Order: sequence, then C-alpha cells, then structure tokens
Amino acid sequence: MNDKELLAIQAARQVKDGMTVGLGTGSTANFFIKELARRHREEGLRITAASSSVASTLQAAEQGLPLVALEHLGRIDLYVDGADEVTTKMALLKGRGYDLVREKLLARNSDLFIVLVDKTKLVTRLGEKFPIPAEVIPFAWQMAKATLEDLGASVTLRQNAAKDGWAITSHGSLVLDLQFKQQLDSAELNQLLNNVPGIVEHGVFDELANAVFVADNGKVEEIWKN
Ligand code: A5P
Repeated sequence: MNDKELLAIQAARQVKDGMTVGLGTGSTANFFIKELARRHREEGLRITAASSSVASTLQAAEQGLPLVALEHLGRIDLYVDGADEVTTKMALLKGRGYDLVREKLLARNSDLFIVLVDKTKLVTRLGEKFPIPAEVIPFAWQMAKATLEDLGASVTLRQNAAKDGWAITSHGSLVLDLQFKQQLDSAELNQLLNNVPGIVEHGVFDELANAVFVADNGKVEEIWKN
C-alpha cells in the first residue's frame, strides 16, 4: 500500500453514518473516494458526497457514491482533500488541479476539513515549491495580471496539459500562476489576492484546515488544530 492510500484509509475512518462528505481533487483524493466507496458498498455506510470538480464527480459516480450538487448544500460535515504545500501553521497551497472555487467553498463550509499530504509537501512559506494559482474571469485576465505585477508578482497565464491552448477550469475561468518577489506570509498573501479585481478564487487556503495528516514512508502522523 502506498502512502496516499494509507492517508486516504485513515481519513475515511473519520466518516460516520449519515454524513455529507466533500470530495477533493487529485491523486490523494482519488484514493479517499475509492475507500469511501468501499465502505459504502461493503459496510453499508450511508453518506452523501459533494464533489469539488468534474474529475471527482466522475470518479465518485463510477464507484457508486450518492452525489449531491453544491447548490443544494449550505454546510457539509467533512471535507477531505490533498494539497500542494502545507506550512507549520496549516496554511495550504492548492490548485495544481485548478478547481479552486468549489474546493474553497467546501473547505470554508465544512465542519471538519482534513488535509492529506506526504512529508515532501511541508514548507516554511507558501509558494516555496509551486507558483500560486489564481482563477480569473476570462475577460479580466490582462487587468488582473497588470494589478498583480504592480503588487510584485511575476505572472504566467497557465497553458493546458497539451500546451496547445490555455487551461480552463470547470466553470470557465483562466488560471494565472504567480511568483512574488517579496516574502509574504499566508495571511498577507490571502488578503492581497482577495483584493485583486477579476480574481474569482486563488490557491491560498489560510486558516481553513482543521487537521493535516502527514505520511512518511508507511507512517501517518495526525496534526490537529487546537
Ligand atoms: C487540486 O486542485 C489540488 O489542490 C490538489 O488537491 C493538490 O494538487 C494535491 O494533489 P495530489 O493529491 O495529486 O498530490
């Protein structure tokens, strides 16, 4: 069993009968979906799933999980997802898979948000290993880019996987990848990005995680927020 699977199984133990569970996006989240579907099928665990992306919706539907669309929900019980970077203060960088709007809605509106990462994703500062993604309304991308450059970022419009066009999110946004010249902590980054017109959502998840499960060669450490 690999570390991502181990994390997913441990997180799935937090799911109780009757819960509404948010499904993340990415390779770790896929293992969580698989384990949840197994518990649903084999143990008769009754849950309703709410998905953070088209990709996860397809995964969940294929494996027989009952899904509800986000517009029917105010809050959920639990959200489980991966992340690209995690600081010691549990701030997260997300969005390599670029479905940030639904991911942040689920993170903000869940009673419990558990993040699953391996040790390589622990950083001292967000943006250390990956650029910071920001989803922008298509007609606003050049103005948002100019604002961000004024604020000290170098900005790249993200290409699609085939590198023959632009990356488009599930609901039609473009994605800017940002690298800041100055060192900003997660609260400063969050505030700065929240204030740029044209940005729909961004990959800084500050003060949202309740727990981070960290895998390191077959062992999982659970870090819970006080
Ligand atoms: C999705 O938009 C991302 O935030 C993912 O949660 C993140 O990239 C982690 O993905 P992996 O679990 O595949 O490493």
